[in-house]
Parts: sequence; structure tokens; C-alpha cells
Amino acid sequence: MTEVQWSENSSERFIQLGEFLVPHRDVQLDAICAMVPEEPGLVVELSCGEGLLAERILERFPASRVRALDRSPAMLEAAARRLERFGDRQEVASFEIADTAWRSGLRDCAAVVSSLAVHHLDAAGKQRLYADVLAMLRPGGAFVTADVIEPASPAARRWAATTYDEAVRQRSLDRLGDLSAFDEFERLRWNLFQPGNDDDEMDHPATIARHLEWLGAAGYEGADVIWATAGHAVYVGFRPSRQ
Ligand SMILES: C[S@@+](CC[C@H](N)C(=O)[O-])C[C@H]1O[C@@H](n2cnc3c(N)ncnc32)[C@H](O)[C@@H]1O
Repeated sequence: MTEVQWSENSSERFIQLGEFLVPHRDVQLDAICAMVPEEPGLVVELSCGEGLLAERILERFPASRVRALDRSPAMLEAAARRLERFGDRQEVASFEIADTAWRSGLRDCAAVVSSLAVHHLDAAGKQRLYADVLAMLRPGGAFVTADVIEPASPAARRWAATTYDEAVRQRSLDRLGDLSAFDEFERLRWNLFQPGNDDDEMDHPATIARHLEWLGAAGYEGADVIWATAGHAVYVGFRPSRQ
């Protein structure tokens, strides 16, 4: 199915199948958390979905607060339910990632995090976001992103396709004892690295080299890829402690 932008159908589907559609999801979430500074502060999550990452951050950093943002009403409702138990340490709110108004209202953040959202922005949108997020961070603050990555060669694309299929197949077997989740992944043509599956107009993944270049150009230090496999990566940049 070709989609122009993320829909409420996409949200419902992702809430049901996310644990299969995202390769090594636990490791990705742990990698993001490992980059969040220990000092208490505000962590902002961009496109929080059902709130899994926000929940993990609130559990792991008991003195920190999380502002979890998304555009989808179904996701916002699911995240609000999941995070309710953290009381006033959390806030769930609506936003459009491409808008810029919400960015100027947020300053002195310990971290800004996101998972599987930045690829919805085009190249110019990503570069603008990277510059604006830098201004949202306190010195030493981290911008940590998990996302799908554009392979830089046909060979790398084939490897991403194969390893993404394999990760979902194994997850389906481990969790369900059968291939039903993998079959659904194939039916949805979710593996965007497989030939013919990359026709969603809402997806604009960039190569990891571009992301690191854009982070460096925006003024981050320590720009790095801390985990990558199956066409997905977790990358980070820090606001310099002294400027
Ligand atoms: C693939 S899901 C990832 C959800 C969550 N971050 C996770 O990793 O489980 C993509 C998320 O991006 C949100 N999203 C898509 N387009 C958006 C936009 N233009 N502005 C804000 N959020 C958007 C969707 O509502 C959805 O929650």
C-alpha cells in the first residue's frame, strides 16, 4: 500500500505489530537510554508513538521528566495511558514534527530523543530540525535518534533487506512459535529495503554519512553511530559543554 503520510490506520497497525516490525527493538531502546545524561532534567521525545521509549526513560531516570509528543490521536491516547502512572513527571502533547513553533518553546533539555520519526522529514527538514534541537539542549545534552537508514550502495541495500527479514522472522518464531507476524510483515510490504517496497511517499531515509555530516554542520560534538543493523541505526550528537 502506498501512503503519503502516517495515518490513524498506520498507528493502529503499529501498536499491534510494532514489536515485530522494529528489529531488535529492546536493544535500540536501551542504546538510546545509554546516551541520556544521568543528571536530572527534561527529556523531550519526538513522535513518541505509544510511549514505550518514554516509559523506559522515566523508569531509568527517576529524577527526570519526559515531554512525549506525537501527532496521531491513537498514539497520544495510548501513550497517555501508558505514562499515567508517572504522574507529573510526564506530559503527553500533540505536535507536528515539521512545524517549528514548538521548538522555540523548549530550552535547557537534558536530551531530545526519537525513534522511527525523523525519516518522515525531507533532507532540508532534517537539517533544520538538527539545528533547532541543538538550541533546545543544555550544554552536554544529547540528541539521540533511532531510525531507518538509507543504504549507501546496492550491496548494502540487499544486506539491509536480508537482515531485516531475518530479524522479523526470528522475532515471530521466538514470540509466537510460528511465522504469522513475519507473514504479516511481508503482506504489508513493510521491509522498505526489498525491491518494490519503497514506494511510500512519507519515507525519506538518509544515509548515515549524511546524518553525521548534518549533525557536525549544525554544531554537535561526538556525532556517532552507536548501534546499527538491518537497515536501522541509533545515532547521537551532543551539545558542546563550552561554546
Ligand atoms: C513508526 S511510528 C514510531 C513510534 C515510536 N516512536 C516507536 O518507536 O515505537 C512513527 C510515529 O511518528 C508519528 N508521526 C508520523 N508523522 C508525524 C508528523 N508529521 N508529526 C508528528 N508525528 C508524526 C506517528 O504518529 C507515529 O507515532
